[in-house]
Amino acid sequence: MSDVVVRTPAKVNLALMVGPLRTDGFHELASVYQAVSLYDEVRATLVPDGQITVRVTGQQAGKVPLDNGNLAYRAAALLAEQAGVETGVRLDIVKGIPVAGGMAGGSSDAAAALVACDALWGTKLDRSALLDLAARLGSDVPFCLLGGTAVGSGHGEIVAPALARGAFEWVFALDREGMSTPAVFAHLDRLRGAAAVLPPRIPEALMAALRTGSATDLGRALANDLQPAALRLRPRLAQVLDAGREYGALGAVVSGSGPTCAFLARGHGHAVDLSARLAGTGLCPSVRIATGPVPGARVVEG
Ligand code: C5P
Repeated sequence: MSDVVVRTPAKVNLALMVGPLRTDGFHELASVYQAVSLYDEVRATLVPDGQITVRVTGQQAGKVPLDNGNLAYRAAALLAEQAGVETGVRLDIVKGIPVAGGMAGGSSDAAAALVACDALWGTKLDRSALLDLAARLGSDVPFCLLGGTAVGSGHGEIVAPALARGAFEWVFALDREGMSTPAVFAHLDRLRGAAAVLPPRIPEALMAALRTGSATDLGRALANDLQPAALRLRPRLAQVLDAGREYGALGAVVSGSGPTCAFLARGHGHAVDLSARLAGTGLCPSVRIATGPVPGARVVEG
């Protein structure tokens, strides 16, 4: 086999509860992730010379680093080192997930690179070994392997499937410029000042809504502790959220560290209507419709 193609999803946090800052620089998190049907594709091609190279095409491709700053590159390098692989790989990434949008685009590419290189190089790591490597690459990478709807703890890297039913229709309003995740966490720390921060807890109403599959209840329960910080750094997002609510979204929340805003629609027709109305406000340069939950990074070819 000389080529493997992996399709890998974006995520939205249904809840992102941020606890105290830890001594390792991460915040303790309690989060609920859902994988949604905006995808990147990663094609891994064998190269004999031991080099790892990355090429990126698709939406906002010019904003993605091609060197060691690229998480997919780091994922391939980490797997090669761990498994003692000396063959190289070329990673061709086609972006469909917003870049620096709070939807785990880079993390999802890392998950895809692990799955693709594992198949390409025949390293055959088991699921738990891949999850361990994923956790070393970034807080959201293990979830991108798992997909579906899952609860995250630790700094986000410890994931367990959630008891959830139903399918949900989402609308995502993208922003022109990405946001830096560390900057948003740091701004939250500034807003909190010296106030005591409690251990993070997922709202019970959210887990109940997932168990019943009620979109109405889920919309009401969406929660993101990073949202105040993201809105301070990018005030126009508040207008985007308000517009979505005005057009009947069941819930409106900043996705992860932003700047993408996520809206839960009543159904597919409403999602189409909501996306057209949001685009019409002129507040957001592009709007996407997606469904969730969907599977994590999976081989689709090769
Ligand atoms: O793990 P990841 O590389 O996605 O994290 C990027 C940055 O986001 C971290 O270096 C940290 O500044 C911030 N972060 C955090 N607490 C978390 C996850 C991320 O402070 N639980």
